[in-house]
Amino acid sequence: MFMHVWTLPWISILLLPIVSSQTPQLTPLPFVLPLALRSPYLHAWTRKPNVSFSWPMFWNHDNLGWEGMIRIDDHAYQWLGVSGTLPDVANITNTQITPTRTIFTYIAGPAQLTATFLSPIERSDPVKQSIPFSYISLDVNFTDGLQHRVQVYMDISGEWVTPSRSDIITWSTSTVGTSSSSFHQIQRNAPQALVEAGDRAEDTTAVIGAKSGPSVSVVVGEAGSSRRAFSTSGVASGIPSTPPAKMGNPWPVFTVVQDLGNISATTSPVVFAIGVYRNPSILVTSTTSTGKTQSQNRAPLFAASLSSISDVVDTFLADFPNAKSRADDVDSIILNAAGNISEPYKDLVSLAARQTMASTDLTIANGTDGRWNMSDIKMFMKDVGVSGRVNPVEKIYASFPFFLFINSTYAGQLLSPLLELQDSSSNDQAFAARDLGQNYPQASGTIMKHEQQVEHTSSMLIMAYAHAKISGDGTLISRHYSLLRKWAEYLIDSTMSPPDSSTVDGATYANSTNLVIKGIIALKAMSEISNAVSLADDANRYFQFSSAFMTQWSALTQTSSSDSHLPLSLGGGSPSSWSQMYNLYADKLLNTSLIDEKIFQNQAQFYQSELSRKSGGLSLDSTNVVASVAWSFFTAATISDSTIRNNLISSVHDQFFKKRANDTQPFPVNYNTDGSNAQGAGNASPAVGAIFAPLALSLSPAQSITIPPPTPPQATSEKPHSVAGPIAGGVLGGLVLLLLVTLGVFYLRRRRNQTKFPRVEAFTAESGIDSYQDLTHNSWDSASHLHMAPREEISRPFGGSGKTGQVLGPNRPPATNVVPTSISIPTVGSSIEPPSTALSGISGFSRNAGTGSRSSRSQLSATELRGLRSEVKNLRQVMQQLQVDRPDRIQIPPTYAI
Ligand SMILES: *[C@@H]1O[C@H](CO)[C@@H](O)[C@H](O)[C@H]1NC(C)=O
Ligand SMILES: *[C@@H]1O[C@H](CO)[C@@H](O)[C@H](O)[C@H]1NC(C)=O
Ligand SMILES: *[C@@H]1O[C@H](CO)[C@@H](O)[C@H](O)[C@H]1NC(C)=O
Ligand SMILES: *[C@@H]1O[C@H](CO)[C@@H](O)[C@H](O)[C@H]1NC(C)=O
Ligand SMILES: *[C@@H]1O[C@H](CO)[C@@H](O)[C@H](O)[C@H]1NC(C)=O
Ligand SMILES: *[C@@H]1O[C@H](CO)[C@@H](O)[C@H](O)[C@H]1NC(C)=O
Ligand SMILES: *[C@@H]1O[C@H](CO)[C@@H](O)[C@H](O)[C@H]1NC(C)=O
Ligand SMILES: *[C@@H]1O[C@H](CO)[C@@H](O)[C@H](O)[C@H]1NC(C)=O
Ligand SMILES: *[C@@H]1O[C@H](CO)[C@@H](O)[C@H](O)[C@H]1NC(C)=O
Repeated sequence: MFMHVWTLPWISILLLPIVSSQTPQLTPLPFVLPLALRSPYLHAWTRKPNVSFSWPMFWNHDNLGWEGMIRIDDHAYQWLGVSGTLPDVANITNTQITPTRTIFTYIAGPAQLTATFLSPIERSDPVKQSIPFSYISLDVNFTDGLQHRVQVYMDISGEWVTPSRSDIITWSTSTVGTSSSSFHQIQRNAPQALVEAGDRAEDTTAVIGAKSGPSVSVVVGEAGSSRRAFSTSGVASGIPSTPPAKMGNPWPVFTVVQDLGNISATTSPVVFAIGVYRNPSILVTSTTSTGKTQSQNRAPLFAASLSSISDVVDTFLADFPNAKSRADDVDSIILNAAGNISEPYKDLVSLAARQTMASTDLTIANGTDGRWNMSDIKMFMKDVGVSGRVNPVEKIYASFPFFLFINSTYAGQLLSPLLELQDSSSNDQAFAARDLGQNYPQASGTIMKHEQQVEHTSSMLIMAYAHAKISGDGTLISRHYSLLRKWAEYLIDSTMSPPDSSTVDGATYANSTNLVIKGIIALKAMSEISNAVSLADDANRYFQFSSAFMTQWSALTQTSSSDSHLPLSLGGGSPSSWSQMYNLYADKLLNTSLIDEKIFQNQAQFYQSELSRKSGGLSLDSTNVVASVAWSFFTAATISDSTIRNNLISSVHDQFFKKRANDTQPFPVNYNTDGSNAQGAGNASPAVGAIFAPLALSLSPAQSITIPPPTPPQATSEKPHSVAGPIAGGVLGGLVLLLLVTLGVFYLRRRRNQTKFPRVEAFTAESGIDSYQDLTHNSWDSASHLHMAPREEISRPFGGSGKTGQVLGPNRPPATNVVPTSISIPTVGSSIEPPSTALSGISGFSRNAGTGSRSSRSQLSATELRGLRSEVKNLRQVMQQLQVDRPDRIQIPPTYAI
């Protein structure tokens, strides 16, 4: 199963040392290898082992006491960790990495030993995914074919719960009989809940164990004496330690010994489990519309079915054979897909997968009824390697291709906490937040001001649409539609001239070509979102803006040198300046088709010339030497020429599998092309999930996006989204009246116009993407006849957008404006407006109707016709919502065939 992981030429090399144990085979490998990576707090790595070992380490380089030995006949060999007491180490003959496993093969005297460190990535079982445990399994056989007495040993120290030697730890050991597994659980003596110390969660309980059996023993003892005892006698009976005790010096270690008896080979693997248990996982604070702060402890998802640590350990260990076969499937799905690209690419996806997954916690909470709310599964990501930020938008954006590829449901579960926090009337920020808080594991819910406004706002729209498109699940885009719309309005104001210092890669120049295009793609994504929820006017509006902006962007990128590549910033800077145009990736992922294939080709040619000019990889832009693994893969995915794409991929592979083969950083996301280490390299960052960018392009989108029916508001829950409350009451009568007036006006106009204008196919809420695209096609044709406003006019801020903060109905906003007939349309409320202005589109309709030229007039009216229809439809929806909320107060008007 594992042999296909490495390149074919390597396999032949790798097989040699099995015959000749004298020369340990060191294959090209990254400097630091993942061992057990399942959560932000189960993140154990080892420096590349050669003939001897160093201690495994947490991602931040803190040592993790973790020792592995095997005793064959009367002789002990070390296969993991460092032991001063042992004369012999097992010689590594082969090392392999797959997306879920790191596998070492050793020669230990007469034995061939294989140690497999399995960190499952569960694609289809979120409960199993939520268990932050890893397996270590050993297979042993003998080159002499004879029987040998075999015992195996593993221990961990208190370093798994705290980095500080002076901390007091406590523990307990569950022995044979109390459960189907034997294990130690270790924690700090006085842990503070939901607080980190030295990147560790203080409330961590570390677990090490194995399935119970007569051959399994678990004892706690001082490190040196326990290890010596095993090496001399095969049992871990060192100087006992009793809790509570200092974590270090003397060092209590938690040992598990399995005695395999006299064997010539293991018939099934010898399995150990190691993990960190925490409950709750995270504290989430949010602010209600009334300004009240509410906090929610969220449990790990498994807690809904496994109520104690011993249930978790038992279940996890019993599941090993199935977990292994699921891991085989995940590995082969990923590696088969990656194999279509290149062999170096397989190495990189293998390194990136569990690193990305392990930055997350999958959680659940109780509903208002006090029972687990199984429909409220949320995923939280820690900005591992850089900060303690919770759900950092730029990392989620970078890693999104991984989550889409593994299971787009996870992608949605990562987005929903960000959307929920911001979809509250207390959020008066017009642009998207950059995270959910500064200190994992607490999502403080503070919406911080920041400068990367276009960046994060665009990311959110792009991800919301990508999730809906790939998963077919329209729940998030419909539930948070008005929030997404508010953000789109912000982009209309800001995209074309974002301020400097406004990108996540630290660009210090304004009007980044790469950033501006992201905002434009995001607007097109919003058009598709509107389309998916059947809001034709909005769809058209965002379509028009994205098209108009696209025209401007294209004009502004036509500099003297731009026949070869795009400039660094729009309309300024040195003509030879350039940047990796990694944001063009979204256009491919979403199929928004804004970018001309010629642009992709020119860029690819340019990247190729840069790659052949320098040997250190492709930096982010012409102003610095920093290269990003993440954005290099977004860029690679935009290159259709597979030779150039693979050259870019190989340039990254060369760095981490060859040039930096002696570095001691867990796979960082940034590096310098001049060979130095990047500042804030982002060691072990989830952003490397971006390596899946080319694979995410091969995902088939869902057939259609399913919009769930609106859920009736719960009596007890807050109604921050409800459109009904603010409008209900005295306003009702006015609305009904306006509806009737609207219908009347519309009907008259329609009769008057019918003979004059070509009939446009009725747009119904049910009509799908195809019919909508026909419509937009028509209207864009018409718009192209119109005067395109000059840039100043376009970028003029629209009054009040997003400022008022009132949020609209759960699925449908109230009446929207008519589609823009020219780009300089004056205003769009993302707020609930009083009925008179909510219908301002209709008066705008009349005004605009008089201004068109003769040739555009007929087209305009067709547009207006749709606008009016949609107006009526929206009004009807408002009424429906009102009825849901106030069934006693209002009757839904009948459907009018229009
Ligand atoms: C191999 O191990 C030795 C001894 O621990 C160490 O000094 C050396 O740096 C290691 N080499 C590599 C390439 O890791
Ligand atoms: C490891 O290899 C060295 C020589 O490279 C040899 O001396 C030693 O005995 C080997 N150890 C084991 C456990 O086979
Ligand atoms: C011994 O185990 C290794 C893997 O650890 C395997 O490749 C080899 O085929 C096994 N040999 C025998 C004789 O089973
Ligand atoms: C993705 O996750 C969902 C929800 O857990 C599950 O129903 C579905 O089967 C998963 N898809 C795959 C391909 O495993
Ligand atoms: C293993 O075999 C040896 C002789 O080779 C014998 O002395 C010993 O008792 C056996 N141990 C077990 C556990 O069977
Ligand atoms: C790999 O490519 C082959 C043809 O080149 C194709 O049939 C197959 O579906 C691809 N596999 C994946 C996982 O993309
Ligand atoms: C949630 O509800 C379950 C029962 O459904 C209960 O066991 C658990 O303690 C509750 N958790 C919290 C945090 O209230
Ligand atoms: C960025 O673009 C805006 C709008 O075109 C312009 O006003 C501004 O001067 C530009 N900034 C720089 C630094 O070129
Ligand atoms: C890494 O270290 C080994 C052992 O010290 C050395 O032989 C090798 O040349 C080094 N590789 C690089 C790329 O520096």
